Parts: sequence; C-alpha cells; structure tokens
Amino acid sequence: MQTVTVSMTVNGKAVGPHTIPDGLSMNDFLREYLNLTGTKFGCGIGECSACVIIRDKPDGTSEATHTCINSAQSFDGASVRTIESHAKDGVPSPVQAAFLDAFAFQCGYCTPGFVGAAQVLVESLARTPVAGADVEAAVSDALDGHLCRCTGYVRYYAALRDLILGDERLIRT
Ligand code: FES
Ligand code: FES
Repeated sequence: MQTVTVSMTVNGKAVGPHTIPDGLSMNDFLREYLNLTGTKFGCGIGECSACVIIRDKPDGTSEATHTCINSAQSFDGASVRTIESHAKDGVPSPVQAAFLDAFAFQCGYCTPGFVGAAQVLVESLARTPVAGADVEAAVSDALDGHLCRCTGYVRYYAALRDLILGDERLIRT
C-alpha cells in the first residue's frame, strides 16, 4: 500500500505528521484518524454537502469545501475548521443558535455542512457587507447544494437571512 504523510491545522491545533494511505479522503481522515465525527458522510460524490468543512486561506478568507471527494493529502499544510470548532465553551455560535432557535433541522445529519457554509458567508459579509436587498440571494448562493432529507429548507434559509439582517456589521447601508 502506498502511503503519504500529511500535516495540517485542524480547529486551531497542529495535527500530524500522520502517515496515511495514498488517496484517503479528508472525510475518513477527520473521522477515523482524528475522531472528529461531526463531519458527516452522505453521498460521497460531492452532491449533498453533508461533508462540508471550512478551509481557511492564507489571505484571511475562507471557503466551504467538501471532504468526501477531496483527499486528505490535498489539505496538507492547510488550516481547516470542522463543526467541532464552532461552539465555544458549550455556547453555540451565532449561526448554530440561529438554526437552533428556528428549528431549522430535524435529524441533524446535514447540519454540520449547513453551519460551515453559513459561517463562511457570515465571515465574508463581515469583510464585505452586502445590501439588505441582496441578502436573500447571498444566502441562497451559500446554501445552494446542501441537501436535507428532513426539512423543507425554508427554516435554514430564513434563519440565516434573519441572522444577517439583524447584524448591522454585515449590511451595507
Ligand atoms: S458526502 Fe460529500 S457531498 Fe455528499
Ligand atoms: S435535518 Fe435530517 S437531513 Fe437535514
């Protein structure tokens, strides 16, 4: 078996070097090697976004990225955040609280992916606020591709929209 060695920063902590099978998915690396099982595995082909985490880029921006179709090796040297990083001292993040308050999810399997994508949007708007009239479209763009078997999506979208509209730092006036 061919192996590769990877090191990265996960939720602010240096991880590795780990010697892993060549081609191991990032999803398996997080779940099986790091025991970070909050990141889910759904379709495995980049269609449902249950497996999404946040990748922080050197320029200070971040992006939502799939872990099922990307190898752990492709994250070598990267800095990522998983769902385990969002709550602080047991207190949900504003995005998590908004989804909870809105009863946005039922089984919760899709929720880590939704939270990651929503967090990326909120952080992006903190850098570059958007006009209030464009919030709905920004939310749709951010959550597009995130599938949920249980709900009608409406509460996820409405919760994120209301969170953004309620934070004047995210809205351009
Ligand atoms: S499990 Fe990754 S997109 Fe569905
Ligand atoms: S809440 Fe069950 S899949 Fe979305």
